[in-house]
Amino acid sequence: MATKAVIKGIGHCVPSKILTNDDLAKIVDTNDEWITQRTGIKERRICSLEETTSTLAFGASQEALTDSGISADELDLVICATVTGDMPFPATSCLIQDKIGAKNAGAFDLGAACAGFVYAVSVGSAMIESGQAKKVLIVGVDTLSKFIDWTDRSTCVLFGDGAGAVVLGAQESDRGVLKTVLLSDGSGSRHISLEVGGSLYPTCDPRSKDRNQHITMAGAEVYRFAVNAMGDACCRVLEEAGMTPEEVDLFVPHQANLRIIDSAAKRLELPPEKVFVNVHKYGNTSGGSVPIALYEAVKEGRLKPGMTVLTVGFGAGLVWGANIIRW
Ligand code: ACO
Repeated sequence: MATKAVIKGIGHCVPSKILTNDDLAKIVDTNDEWITQRTGIKERRICSLEETTSTLAFGASQEALTDSGISADELDLVICATVTGDMPFPATSCLIQDKIGAKNAGAFDLGAACAGFVYAVSVGSAMIESGQAKKVLIVGVDTLSKFIDWTDRSTCVLFGDGAGAVVLGAQESDRGVLKTVLLSDGSGSRHISLEVGGSLYPTCDPRSKDRNQHITMAGAEVYRFAVNAMGDACCRVLEEAGMTPEEVDLFVPHQANLRIIDSAAKRLELPPEKVFVNVHKYGNTSGGSVPIALYEAVKEGRLKPGMTVLTVGFGAGLVWGANIIRW
């Protein structure tokens, strides 16, 4: 039997502050009916000033480590999938590494927006399968609420904050990460971006004051891309694994928009009971979306050891990808 990256534990952490659609209707010209019909979102979690990407990541990591029975000093690697790190540098993974006490681990951040967790699972499992690591902590986390223009109704209703984490461990097994595909198309980079704060427009550069300081998104373009990307990644990963959609026990897609999830499920001909949805509770938490959904699927008893789960993500980049995991 081959060495596989098996999920040993899972955790999550979301801010306690809930922002409902009715709350948003008091801030911008919107309403619960529009948001629910177009996105499926009813409420989202929003960080306080004290909560940051690393504090949410720490909470999720601690829970995942406890769940796994693995201590932090046994970890070989900490990967943090985020596009909203505490600072441009150092990497947020290093802040996590320090807070949990992973004194024997390497640490790096991975920037693939809403596909970040799917990308990180692919990288972490490859490190394990190649023998370069035995125990890997993967955190998917974002705090997009801190980068939203709260006067722009076309974006501020979509996003929320949150973190999820898993511990991967090397094991001779037929369980674990079975197959992954990672894809990208940088020609679509302008469709979702945060222009300021990098080397193009550093915050300290006077020219940056004239640029948009918030997330901008061409919603319709992203929607069209997402519908194709979700189906594309799922079909590719299933084909590479030599599997059919009927062999999938649970589909856990990136939680951005219920209509996008429904169209992917339709393309795969998956019945509703095989599709996990929690977008109504959290909105789009970007890197946190897939691991928070996996966490809730486990807690609700919908994802059990031995089941085959298909995860898929898409996001700014543009990037997209999918994993098949035997839980
Ligand atoms: N409340 C009320 N009306 C609104 C709102 C709002 N919050 N936002 C937009 N509208 C209006 C628009 O102004 C427009 O009005 P008009 O026709 O008078 O001009 C109308 O509603 C329709 O707007 P559309 O943009 O056409 O609405 P659409 O059906 O495309 O839905 C949405 C918009 C929900 C943003 C959709 O395009 C979408 O989900 N796109 C994908 C977004 C996504 O998944 N992003 C992920 C980013 S991943 C990452 O990496 C961060």
